[in-house]
Amino acid sequence: MGKWCAVKSFDIEIYTQDCTAGETVIDVQGQKTAFEREKSIMMRLQDLPHPNIIQCYGTSSFEIYLELYPMNLGTYLNQTKKISMETIHSWMKQLLSALEFVHNHHIYHNDVSLTNILIVPCTNRIVLADWGLSRYLPNLVDTYLIEHDRQQDALNLRRVFIRLLTHCESETMARMMYDTEFTLDVCPHTPDGQRREAILHDPQARSFVSNMFSETFTIDELAQDPWMKGD
Ligand SMILES: Nc1ncnc2c1ncn2[C@@H]1O[C@H](COP(=O)(O)OP(=O)(O)O)[C@@H](O)[C@H]1O
Ligand SMILES: [Mg+2]
Repeated sequence: MGKWCAVKSFDIEIYTQDCTAGETVIDVQGQKTAFEREKSIMMRLQDLPHPNIIQCYGTSSFEIYLELYPMNLGTYLNQTKKISMETIHSWMKQLLSALEFVHNHHIYHNDVSLTNILIVPCTNRIVLADWGLSRYLPNLVDTYLIEHDRQQDALNLRRVFIRLLTHCESETMARMMYDTEFTLDVCPHTPDGQRREAILHDPQARSFVSNMFSETFTIDELAQDPWMKGD
């Protein structure tokens, strides 16, 4: 039985003969490198199935065939005004589970963002997609690179969390709204008012948010956080 799938296509074959398309010069070599990089990680992930990582069905010489999803999280957020704290909690758990899992297998995503997270809205299940900037770093000699990539994933995850929580891009603004002591009053009429209340009254959620805003959090620590371990 055939399955629907998404096809991620790289401009390799079409432009191999003629490297210009109209006014645009196509960087064929760059496309080849990008394709090979993403393909090698997707093939590695094929042997490491995880419910929150996009499944790859296979590849051709310039395409990657992927499990099909209705939309990305950025689009979903733009369409859906009210997102509950339970939903944000569930998404964070799923993302941390995926990131902790791949890090344990020496893979670093490097591009965690709302548009690279795909969602099935009716179940709230999400998967991490777009492994085009990810790296496989199994070698202990690469400690500097590993540290860099670990931090990159943690910082990008924080950016996503802040967008989910506050709808704003600015970390400074978010810190003001959710400063660790929660002393500032946020406008109760904003959609964030309710979520902030939910955090205020849950000591575990409060502690998680404080960790997120600290300078030194890691993916491993967050994955082990009591709020993430709970229901
Ligand atoms: N498997 C998929 N199912 C449905 N939509 C997808 C899938 N993969 C990607 N998309 C959509 O295409 C967009 C671009 O894909 P992505 O892999 O992030 O490519 P790029 O490297 O160009 O950022 C995503 O933001 C998402 O909206
Ligand atoms: Mg992308």
